[in-house]
Amino acid sequence: MLAARRTDRLESIVADLREQGGRAIACQVDVTRREDLEHMVERAVAEFGRLDVLVNNAGVGKISAVADLDVDGWTAMIDVNVRGVLNGIAAAMPVFRRQGVGHLVTTVSTSGLKIVPTQSVYAGTKNAVRTIMEGLRQESTDGVLRTTSISPGFVRTEFTEPIDDQAVRDQLSKSMADFGISAESVARAIAFAIDQPHDVEIGDLTIRPTVQG
Ligand SMILES: NC(=O)c1ccc[n+]([C@@H]2O[C@H](COP(=O)([O-])OP(=O)(O)OC[C@H]3O[C@@H](n4cnc5c(N)ncnc54)[C@H](OP(=O)(O)O)[C@@H]3O)[C@@H](O)[C@H]2O)c1
Repeated sequence: MLAARRTDRLESIVADLREQGGRAIACQVDVTRREDLEHMVERAVAEFGRLDVLVNNAGVGKISAVADLDVDGWTAMIDVNVRGVLNGIAAAMPVFRRQGVGHLVTTVSTSGLKIVPTQSVYAGTKNAVRTIMEGLRQESTDGVLRTTSISPGFVRTEFTEPIDDQAVRDQLSKSMADFGISAESVARAIAFAIDQPHDVEIGDLTIRPTVQG
Protein backbone atom coordinates (compact mmCIF):
# COMPACT_ATOMS: atom_id res chain seq x y z
CA MET A 1 0.00 0.00 0.00
CA LEU A 2 1.66 3.20 -1.17
CA ALA A 3 0.37 6.45 0.27
CA ALA A 4 1.03 10.13 -0.34
CA ARG A 5 -0.86 13.14 -1.65
CA ARG A 6 0.28 12.90 -5.29
CA THR A 7 -1.37 9.73 -6.54
CA ASP A 8 -0.08 10.13 -10.12
CA ARG A 9 3.41 9.38 -8.80
CA LEU A 10 2.17 6.50 -6.68
CA GLU A 11 0.29 4.97 -9.62
CA SER A 12 3.45 4.81 -11.70
CA ILE A 13 5.27 2.96 -8.88
CA VAL A 14 2.27 0.64 -8.52
CA ALA A 15 2.45 -0.10 -12.26
CA ASP A 16 6.19 -0.92 -11.97
CA LEU A 17 5.61 -3.22 -9.01
CA ARG A 18 2.75 -5.02 -10.74
CA GLU A 19 4.86 -5.48 -13.87
CA GLN A 20 7.41 -7.24 -11.67
CA GLY A 21 4.72 -9.55 -10.29
CA GLY A 22 4.08 -7.65 -7.04
CA ARG A 23 0.74 -6.73 -5.48
CA ALA A 24 0.40 -3.02 -4.81
CA ILE A 25 -2.22 -0.31 -4.55
CA ALA A 26 -2.03 3.46 -4.22
CA CYS A 27 -3.98 5.46 -1.68
CA GLN A 28 -4.26 9.23 -1.47
CA VAL A 29 -3.29 10.30 2.03
CA ASP A 30 -2.47 13.60 3.66
CA VAL A 31 -0.85 12.50 6.93
CA THR A 32 -2.03 15.66 8.67
CA ARG A 33 -5.59 14.32 8.27
CA ARG A 34 -6.27 11.55 10.76
CA GLU A 35 -9.21 10.23 8.74
CA ASP A 36 -6.98 9.71 5.68
CA LEU A 37 -4.72 7.37 7.65
CA GLU A 38 -7.68 5.53 9.15
CA HIS A 39 -9.06 5.03 5.65
CA MET A 40 -5.65 3.84 4.39
CA VAL A 41 -5.33 1.26 7.15
CA GLU A 42 -8.92 0.04 6.57
CA ARG A 43 -8.21 -0.30 2.87
CA ALA A 44 -4.93 -2.15 3.48
CA VAL A 45 -6.71 -4.65 5.72
CA ALA A 46 -9.58 -5.04 3.23
CA GLU A 47 -7.21 -5.59 0.28
CA PHE A 48 -4.45 -7.64 1.90
CA GLY A 49 -6.22 -9.22 4.89
CA ARG A 50 -3.89 -7.70 7.48
CA LEU A 51 -1.42 -4.91 8.22
CA ASP A 52 2.12 -6.08 8.94
CA VAL A 53 4.05 -2.80 9.03
CA LEU A 54 3.34 0.91 8.87
CA VAL A 55 6.26 2.98 7.59
CA ASN A 56 5.78 6.60 8.65
CA ASN A 57 8.10 8.20 6.12
CA ALA A 58 6.29 11.41 5.05
CA GLY A 59 8.25 14.43 6.15
CA VAL A 60 8.94 18.02 5.31
CA GLY A 61 12.03 20.12 6.01
CA LYS A 62 11.29 23.83 5.98
CA ILE A 63 14.89 24.47 6.94
CA SER A 64 15.80 27.98 8.13
CA ALA A 65 17.32 29.74 11.11
CA VAL A 66 14.97 30.21 14.05
CA ALA A 67 15.60 33.97 13.83
CA ASP A 68 13.90 33.99 10.40
CA LEU A 69 10.64 33.27 12.26
CA ASP A 70 9.15 31.06 9.55
CA VAL A 71 6.17 30.29 11.77
CA ASP A 72 4.20 28.73 8.88
CA GLY A 73 7.18 26.48 8.13
CA TRP A 74 7.41 25.42 11.77
CA THR A 75 3.68 24.64 11.74
CA ALA A 76 4.05 22.58 8.56
CA MET A 77 6.92 20.57 10.07
CA ILE A 78 5.05 19.95 13.32
CA ASP A 79 1.89 18.97 11.41
CA VAL A 80 3.56 16.53 9.02
CA ASN A 81 6.63 15.30 10.94
CA VAL A 82 5.02 14.93 14.38
CA ARG A 83 1.22 14.99 14.07
CA GLY A 84 1.43 12.91 10.87
CA VAL A 85 3.40 10.18 12.64
CA LEU A 86 0.99 10.22 15.60
CA ASN A 87 -1.95 9.95 13.19
CA GLY A 88 -0.28 6.91 11.64
CA ILE A 89 0.32 5.33 15.04
CA ALA A 90 -3.31 5.97 16.04
CA ALA A 91 -4.61 4.38 12.85
CA ALA A 92 -2.39 1.28 12.95
CA MET A 93 -2.25 0.42 16.68
CA PRO A 94 -5.79 -0.98 17.01
CA VAL A 95 -5.16 -3.32 14.07
CA PHE A 96 -1.76 -4.42 15.46
CA ARG A 97 -3.36 -5.10 18.85
CA ARG A 98 -6.20 -7.06 17.25
CA GLN A 99 -3.76 -9.11 15.18
CA GLY A 100 -1.42 -9.61 18.13
CA VAL A 101 1.49 -8.47 15.96
CA GLY A 102 2.65 -5.32 14.20
CA HIS A 103 5.61 -3.09 13.41
CA LEU A 104 5.92 0.71 13.30
CA VAL A 105 8.84 2.14 11.33
CA THR A 106 9.52 5.87 11.30
CA THR A 107 12.01 7.92 9.33
CA VAL A 108 13.73 10.38 11.65
CA SER A 109 17.09 11.96 10.76
CA THR A 110 20.75 12.41 11.63
CA SER A 111 19.71 16.08 12.01
CA GLY A 112 18.48 15.05 15.43
CA LEU A 113 21.77 13.35 16.31
CA LYS A 114 24.14 16.12 15.23
CA ILE A 115 22.36 19.43 15.71
CA VAL A 116 23.46 22.10 13.23
CA PRO A 117 22.41 25.72 12.66
CA THR A 118 19.25 26.23 10.51
CA GLN A 119 17.94 22.75 11.34
CA SER A 120 16.83 23.42 14.93
CA VAL A 121 13.08 23.13 14.44
CA TYR A 122 13.32 20.34 11.87
CA ALA A 123 15.65 18.41 14.21
CA GLY A 124 13.28 19.16 17.07
CA THR A 125 10.37 17.53 15.22
CA LYS A 126 12.51 14.49 14.41
CA ASN A 127 13.70 14.16 17.99
CA ALA A 128 10.13 14.51 19.26
CA VAL A 129 9.29 11.46 17.17
CA ARG A 130 12.44 9.63 18.29
CA THR A 131 11.32 10.19 21.90
CA ILE A 132 7.75 9.08 21.21
CA MET A 133 8.99 5.89 19.53
CA GLU A 134 11.31 5.06 22.45
CA GLY A 135 8.51 5.70 24.95
CA LEU A 136 6.16 3.55 22.90
CA ARG A 137 8.79 0.81 22.80
CA GLN A 138 9.01 0.83 26.59
CA GLU A 139 5.23 0.71 26.85
CA SER A 140 5.03 -2.22 24.42
CA THR A 141 7.09 -5.03 25.89
CA ASP A 142 4.26 -7.57 25.71
CA GLY A 143 5.67 -8.80 22.40
CA VAL A 144 2.96 -7.42 20.11
CA LEU A 145 4.59 -4.30 18.72
CA ARG A 146 8.04 -3.69 17.24
CA THR A 147 9.23 -0.09 16.80
CA THR A 148 12.05 1.11 14.56
CA SER A 149 13.43 4.62 14.06
CA ILE A 150 15.63 5.03 10.99
CA SER A 151 17.99 8.04 10.96
CA PRO A 152 19.22 8.80 7.46
CA GLY A 153 21.94 11.31 6.67
CA PHE A 154 22.00 12.97 3.24
CA VAL A 155 19.80 11.08 0.78
CA ARG A 156 19.32 12.17 -2.84
CA THR A 157 15.62 13.11 -2.99
CA GLU A 158 13.46 16.18 -3.58
CA PHE A 159 13.72 17.06 0.11
CA THR A 160 15.31 20.51 -0.44
CA GLU A 161 12.67 21.76 -2.91
CA PRO A 162 10.31 23.33 -0.32
CA ILE A 163 13.15 25.24 1.39
CA ASP A 164 12.52 28.98 0.95
CA ASP A 165 15.95 30.23 2.06
CA GLN A 166 17.89 30.15 -1.22
CA ALA A 167 21.35 29.93 0.39
CA VAL A 168 20.33 27.06 2.66
CA ARG A 169 18.58 25.28 -0.21
CA ASP A 170 21.63 25.60 -2.48
CA GLN A 171 24.00 24.39 0.21
CA LEU A 172 21.91 21.34 1.15
CA SER A 173 21.17 20.51 -2.50
CA LYS A 174 24.89 20.62 -3.25
CA SER A 175 25.73 18.25 -0.37
CA MET A 176 22.94 15.95 -1.52
CA ALA A 177 24.23 15.94 -5.09
CA ASP A 178 27.90 15.61 -4.07
CA PHE A 179 27.62 12.71 -1.64
CA GLY A 180 23.98 11.85 -0.85
CA ILE A 181 23.15 8.14 -0.83
CA SER A 182 20.23 6.69 -2.78
CA ALA A 183 16.71 6.36 -1.42
CA GLU A 184 17.08 2.63 -2.16
CA SER A 185 19.81 2.43 0.51
CA VAL A 186 17.32 3.64 3.10
CA ALA A 187 14.67 1.28 1.74
CA ARG A 188 17.13 -1.62 2.18
CA ALA A 189 17.74 -0.59 5.80
CA ILE A 190 13.98 -0.51 6.42
CA ALA A 191 13.60 -3.91 4.75
CA PHE A 192 16.40 -5.24 7.00
CA ALA A 193 14.51 -4.12 10.12
CA ILE A 194 11.24 -5.57 8.85
CA ASP A 195 12.82 -8.88 7.79
CA GLN A 196 14.04 -9.78 11.29
CA PRO A 197 12.09 -12.46 13.13
CA HIS A 198 9.37 -10.95 15.30
CA ASP A 199 11.32 -11.47 18.54
CA VAL A 200 14.12 -9.25 17.15
CA GLU A 201 13.53 -5.50 17.22
CA ILE A 202 15.88 -3.13 15.39
CA GLY A 203 15.12 -0.09 17.54
CA ASP A 204 17.38 2.56 16.04
CA LEU A 205 19.29 2.46 12.83
CA THR A 206 21.54 5.24 11.48
CA ILE A 207 22.40 5.20 7.80
CA ARG A 208 24.49 7.98 6.28
CA PRO A 209 26.98 8.55 3.49
CA THR A 210 30.38 7.18 4.52
CA VAL A 211 31.91 10.63 3.92
CA GLN A 212 29.30 12.63 5.87
CA GLY A 213 30.77 14.51 8.82
N1 LIG B 1 16.62 13.47 1.99
C1 LIG B 1 17.34 13.50 3.10
O1 LIG B 1 18.54 13.83 3.06
C2 LIG B 1 16.73 13.08 4.41
C3 LIG B 1 17.58 12.88 5.50
C4 LIG B 1 17.05 12.46 6.72
C5 LIG B 1 15.70 12.24 6.84
N2 LIG B 1 14.87 12.46 5.76
C6 LIG B 1 13.45 12.16 5.97
O2 LIG B 1 13.07 11.19 5.02
C7 LIG B 1 11.67 11.26 4.79
C8 LIG B 1 11.40 11.27 3.31
O3 LIG B 1 11.86 12.52 2.77
P1 LIG B 1 12.56 12.64 1.34
O4 LIG B 1 13.98 12.94 1.54
O5 LIG B 1 12.18 11.46 0.48
O6 LIG B 1 11.87 13.99 0.83
P2 LIG B 1 10.92 14.26 -0.42
O7 LIG B 1 11.58 13.81 -1.70
O8 LIG B 1 10.51 15.69 -0.30
O9 LIG B 1 9.67 13.31 -0.16
C9 LIG B 1 8.74 13.59 0.86
C10 LIG B 1 7.66 12.53 0.79
O10 LIG B 1 6.72 12.79 1.83
C11 LIG B 1 5.41 12.86 1.25
N3 LIG B 1 4.62 13.82 2.01
C12 LIG B 1 4.97 15.09 2.35
N4 LIG B 1 3.97 15.68 3.02
C13 LIG B 1 2.97 14.77 3.10
C14 LIG B 1 1.66 14.79 3.66
N5 LIG B 1 1.17 15.86 4.28
N6 LIG B 1 0.92 13.67 3.56
C15 LIG B 1 1.40 12.58 2.93
N7 LIG B 1 2.61 12.50 2.39
C16 LIG B 1 3.38 13.60 2.47
C17 LIG B 1 5.63 13.30 -0.19
O11 LIG B 1 4.58 12.89 -1.05
P3 LIG B 1 3.42 13.92 -1.54
O12 LIG B 1 4.07 15.27 -1.66
O13 LIG B 1 2.94 13.35 -2.82
O14 LIG B 1 2.40 13.86 -0.46
C18 LIG B 1 6.92 12.54 -0.52
O15 LIG B 1 6.63 11.21 -0.87
C19 LIG B 1 11.20 12.51 5.53
O16 LIG B 1 10.63 12.14 6.78
C20 LIG B 1 12.49 13.30 5.76
O17 LIG B 1 12.37 14.16 6.86
C21 LIG B 1 15.36 12.86 4.56
